[in-house]
Amino acid sequence: MVQPISVFKGLEGVYVTESALSLIDSENGVLYYAGYDVKELVERSSFEEVVFLMLHQRLPTSSEFTEFLKLLRRSQELEPIHIETIRKYAGVTDILSLLAMLIVLEGRGKIGGNSNDFNAAVNAVAKMGSFFSTIIRVRYGGDYIPPRRDLSFPENLLYMMNGEVPSREHADVLDDLLILHAEHGIPASTFASLVAASTLSDLYSSIAAGILALKGPLHGGASEASYAQALSIGSVEKVPEWVQLTLSEKKKIMGFGHRVYKIYDPRATIVKNIIARFMGSMNSEVKKVYEITRALEEYGEKYLASRGIYPNVDLWTPILYRMIGLPADSFTALFAVSRTAGWVAHILEYWRENKLIRPLHLYVGERPRKYIPLELRTGS
Ligand SMILES: CC(C)(COP(=O)(O)OP(=O)(O)OC[C@H]1O[C@@H](n2cnc3c(N)ncnc32)[C@H](O)[C@@H]1OP(=O)(O)O)[C@@H](O)C(=O)NCCC(=O)NCCS
Repeated sequence: MVQPISVFKGLEGVYVTESALSLIDSENGVLYYAGYDVKELVERSSFEEVVFLMLHQRLPTSSEFTEFLKLLRRSQELEPIHIETIRKYAGVTDILSLLAMLIVLEGRGKIGGNSNDFNAAVNAVAKMGSFFSTIIRVRYGGDYIPPRRDLSFPENLLYMMNGEVPSREHADVLDDLLILHAEHGIPASTFASLVAASTLSDLYSSIAAGILALKGPLHGGASEASYAQALSIGSVEKVPEWVQLTLSEKKKIMGFGHRVYKIYDPRATIVKNIIARFMGSMNSEVKKVYEITRALEEYGEKYLASRGIYPNVDLWTPILYRMIGLPADSFTALFAVSRTAGWVAHILEYWRENKLIRPLHLYVGERPRKYIPLELRTGS
């Protein structure tokens, strides 16, 4: 007897590979990177250390970390080809598209498939940070500022963007956000980068595939969409009616829901705890978005929690992004900078036992039929 064929729309519930990089404990609401609770990493570690952790699945010794930092910081410097490209396109295209263009440029002449190419992986993370800062700086009328080797990755990111060494608070918040977004299993963007890498395309082009899949509001674009949503609602008083109307029209509330978590996203809890530390220093715009988001969470949960739809990290991150001075159209691009750590780690891991990714589709169209010349077709 012929077995019916199952189609797994959106690959929901399908395991596509093995990985030692992260564990999403969606029952208990805990996220682990290579065995470490991400909450503890946010409290005690740094993004730079997490990049090492992703690439080696263990924390570095102090001498290893010193060498690693030298490589990372050296790789943050941009070349004339990058700077010229940024000057040419920063005002023309969105930040994410330009990031993809620049990282593809970085892969010129390179070949894929080397699972030990740690230097390229570190270079990709470093360059993405500098691309991000320089694009924003140039967009606002400035020019490339070389990174400083005495500054950490998040410090350099803000320094190259603003031309000033950031406060400890801002650099720490950015560091926390970078850690929180560094890795999360195989969402659409990581899968896209693995699909590209599985063809033995080069590392940088595979990252570009990830960047472009991150862009949409169902994935990485959700934080920008969630921020725009809060601004368009306009006030706390309008939230209950807005939630009811949105749900009655079968539209989605941005910053709610997740394919894997059917409980509160643990990363959102971490972000909320960070926000709580800065309540006193929010400007009026951020404070307003905060109040609206709080009301949105309350009313959204009232209607959606019974269906396993809870706030996700992207509901709350815009508040921190704005608090440290990032433009409202740069949130997804910052996510891409951070997630590059996860993408490159997944790609190198996958290349150890590479297998071309090539799923099937179940054909539901016409069975073979006869071609009728144009002049003989009747239209029925
Ligand atoms: C992330 C997301 C795509 C995951 O969803 P998924 O597993 O693919 O599930 P679906 O989109 O098919 O949604 C399943 C049901 O829940 C509803 N739902 C899911 N997320 C919702 C949301 N944010 N607001 C309202 N309803 C939602 C859908 O409308 C659908 O309802 P239906 O069964 O009546 O048609 C989805 O929750 C979403 O679009 N969220 C908003 C965007 C967002 O915040 N993305 C960032 C994720 S970190």
